[in-house]
Amino acid sequence: AFMLEASEISVLEQRVRETLGIDNCIVVPGNSDTQDWVKQEMGKRCAQLLEKMLHPNCTVAVTGGTTMAALAAAMPPIHTAENVMFVPARGGIGEQVENEANTICAAMAKRAKSQYRLLYVPDPIGEESYQTIIEEPSVKEVLSIINRSDIVIHGIGDAMTMAKRRRTPEPLVEQFKSGVAVSEAFGYYFDAEGNVVHRVRTVGLQLEDLDKAESVIAIAGGASKARAIASYFKLGRNNILVTDEAAANQLIKGE
Ligand code: G3H
Repeated sequence: AFMLEASEISVLEQRVRETLGIDNCIVVPGNSDTQDWVKQEMGKRCAQLLEKMLHPNCTVAVTGGTTMAALAAAMPPIHTAENVMFVPARGGIGEQVENEANTICAAMAKRAKSQYRLLYVPDPIGEESYQTIIEEPSVKEVLSIINRSDIVIHGIGDAMTMAKRRRTPEPLVEQFKSGVAVSEAFGYYFDAEGNVVHRVRTVGLQLEDLDKAESVIAIAGGASKARAIASYFKLGRNNILVTDEAAANQLIKGE
């Protein structure tokens, strides 16, 4: 049932823009829940978009996840802008190393032939260590770069899926099962109205920092993520969504 023509895709893109109230939306044909190449296609389109947005001395903060990994893999060498810097949006948030923001950040910068800085913070981190580590000069320096990011690119997860995938304390997983958390992005969990219901204790990008960025791009697809995408966009902080046909169809139906 998937595989639309270009003209139908552009109608879908416009309807998603209107539904979410955003400037720009890219929809690729298919459903990334069941077709792996769809995620790769989202990555490719997002990489092309990013390349056009880059400017000299620009800083790009990136999160982790398999969709972001597809973007990293599709990143072309950047010739259009000098001194581009990639940074991870947050410290470790309980993901396996291949899904971590640090890993994606380094992979993306390598392909882009750009610079990068990484965040080394223990995960999870206690309150006392947190206060100490944010004062550590090497961490402080990277944090100051992250907090001034020009472009932020991140995945969106279904809250339960993410809580199970990560090292999440069992009581929290139980609490999420009652449906209180719907979506997840950069370690924050949101309810259906886009309110923060939990945040993973780590350093890095804070929600407020998104307001200072010139562009905030979410990349997330698959019918299974439609509710999560709708919930996350209630925040109203993003201006761009890269998604797929299956998620887009459900988004505009409000399902
Ligand atoms: O924050 C959201 C998750 O990182 C999304 O992960 O792209 O592997 O579904 P995923």
